[in-house]
Amino acid sequence: MSDHAAAQVPLAGRRAEDLPAHWLLARLGKKVLRPGGKQLTTRLVGMLPLRDADVVELAPGLGLTAKLLLEAGPASYIGVENDADAAALAAASLGARGEVTIGEAKSTGLADASCDVVLTEAMLTMHTNAQKGEILDEVARILRPGGCYAVHELALVPDDIPIETAEDVRLSLVRSQKVNTRPQTTPEWIALFAAHGFEVEHVVHAPMRLLHFRRLLADEGLRGTLHIAGTYLRDADVRRRVNTMRAAFRRNEKHIAAIAIIARRAAASTPDTEEAP
Ligand SMILES: C[S@@+](CC[C@H](N)C(=O)[O-])C[C@H]1O[C@@H](n2cnc3c(N)ncnc32)[C@H](O)[C@@H]1O
Repeated sequence: MSDHAAAQVPLAGRRAEDLPAHWLLARLGKKVLRPGGKQLTTRLVGMLPLRDADVVELAPGLGLTAKLLLEAGPASYIGVENDADAAALAAASLGARGEVTIGEAKSTGLADASCDVVLTEAMLTMHTNAQKGEILDEVARILRPGGCYAVHELALVPDDIPIETAEDVRLSLVRSQKVNTRPQTTPEWIALFAAHGFEVEHVVHAPMRLLHFRRLLADEGLRGTLHIAGTYLRDADVRRRVNTMRAAFRRNEKHIAAIAIIARRAAASTPDTEEAP
């Protein structure tokens, strides 16, 4: 990766009140930007056949999961991230062990059938269903037959959530997060994967507790949490936004959950569904 400016938190010049939630949290000092936190990521990564595999991560963000993937001994790692500053930060955290390109998930520029595992966290949910489909088609194109696509995203619960409630939840999240947020029920996620040539093998749920204190401590550690608390106390604009986001998460807590899915190209099995602690 050669065409990146010096690494800085994305959208550093934008007012806190206009920042998309993930970059607001990054400004706060938060590094884990996905709904099920590090615990669900670790579980998901642990279920993937990574050793000696060619691995692609779409939207590596600040590069935390990339480091975890590299620890599993893949043959190669490529991240594809559409924010240049995030790509620079992710690349800096990897050194020579992997490559991060600035690009779009729906058109990665990677060769057909060139990887074994693709991973995405907290990115598909930010896209419309049509865009999600384009990204799934791109993943199907770059995966070798039998390869895995693993995602860690946001689900609506319960499966039979009334349409009006689902729409209220989406609107409330879009307004408070200032980013497109299109979570779906678990059957909708599974159907979307099936419609694009994937067979879902595993589904795991975890509570969506991104801004709960205990999750913060688990994700960011004591030093990270103290740093976040310091920024929160010092910066009134950031504090206001975080409070609004946290209120929206709490208001919708019964209707949102983290979901991890592992799907495979051309492998027959029935999905098993389980709950993470
Ligand atoms: C909520 S953050 C999650 C970052 C990281 N995956 C994590 O879980 O910590 C969403 C990330 O997706 C990236 N992104 C959004 N849309 C994208 C797209 N169409 N192609 C590539 N990256 C995208 C953003 O720049 C950001 O890094």
